[in-house]
Amino acid sequence: MTVWPHDRAPSRAELIDSCRGKDALVCLLTERVDSGVLAAAPTVRIVANVAVGFDNLDVAAGTAAGVVMSNTPGVLDDTTADLAFALLMATARRLCEGDRLMRTGTWGGWGIMQLLGQDVHHAKLGIVGFGRIGRGLARRARGFDMLVSYHDAVRAPQEVEQELGVSFVALEALLRDSDFVSLHVPLLPQTQHLIDAAALRSMKKTAVIVNTSRGPVIDETALVQALRDGVIAGAGLDVYEREPQLASGLAELQNVVLLPHIGSASVATRSKMAEIAAQNVLAFFAGQPPPTALNPEVLAQRRA
Ligand code: GLV
Repeated sequence: MTVWPHDRAPSRAELIDSCRGKDALVCLLTERVDSGVLAAAPTVRIVANVAVGFDNLDVAAGTAAGVVMSNTPGVLDDTTADLAFALLMATARRLCEGDRLMRTGTWGGWGIMQLLGQDVHHAKLGIVGFGRIGRGLARRARGFDMLVSYHDAVRAPQEVEQELGVSFVALEALLRDSDFVSLHVPLLPQTQHLIDAAALRSMKKTAVIVNTSRGPVIDETALVQALRDGVIAGAGLDVYEREPQLASGLAELQNVVLLPHIGSASVATRSKMAEIAAQNVLAFFAGQPPPTALNPEVLAQRRA
């Protein structure tokens, strides 16, 4: 077994080198595993991603090569929904600007017009992508008496809408009417730049956008421009288009809260994610179906 010893992600060459002679690869979302990597690592029979999002894996290439791929669904929903709500609150109430004021010793004392933010309670929240994490956010928003609508490619069952007190709307209406928009879609060709310059222009000038899904869902250059020009009021971001790089000008803006992709980063949740990845590998070599395989059809035609 080889354990990558560094804090940084391996380069493609280092990843391939680490896989030499190995039967399994346990990887993170920072590793792109595609047909080139699989061809250069012909002994690898299972790739277990320690993340629920798997846009870093080419699952079709895995299937074609007879390699099982797995992710870690179900264990990080609440932790990520917590973070999305924290970002929403932090951006609305300008927490990080306040923190900067205190740390730089520039606070001159209480002021009636100081750091005026936006109310979260009773505001309209639009959730784009209504899977487990989106629903988790809706549950949290209820505690703040928010008016919640959602959009998803697939409408949720009526019981779910009723239980969570949410209404299904078209994306255009959601963007137009919401005070807060939170993104919870997977990164797919159809969600890449879902929020582009036109989508941003269709939002309220006072709106705040929150992204804990995947960076490329927002056109980050267009977002910087929109935040600079007052097209929308603020953004709370945990993910970026070209991690770890930020779009030019983003870090200079005051009306953004920027986090380093820590949606699932609690001790308990990261431990569960690691356990699930390990369980997939162990099950595979015990001849059992890996519990969260993304391409279980491969099991029928195992790699020799
Ligand atoms: C984190 O971003 C994940 O997909 O698990």
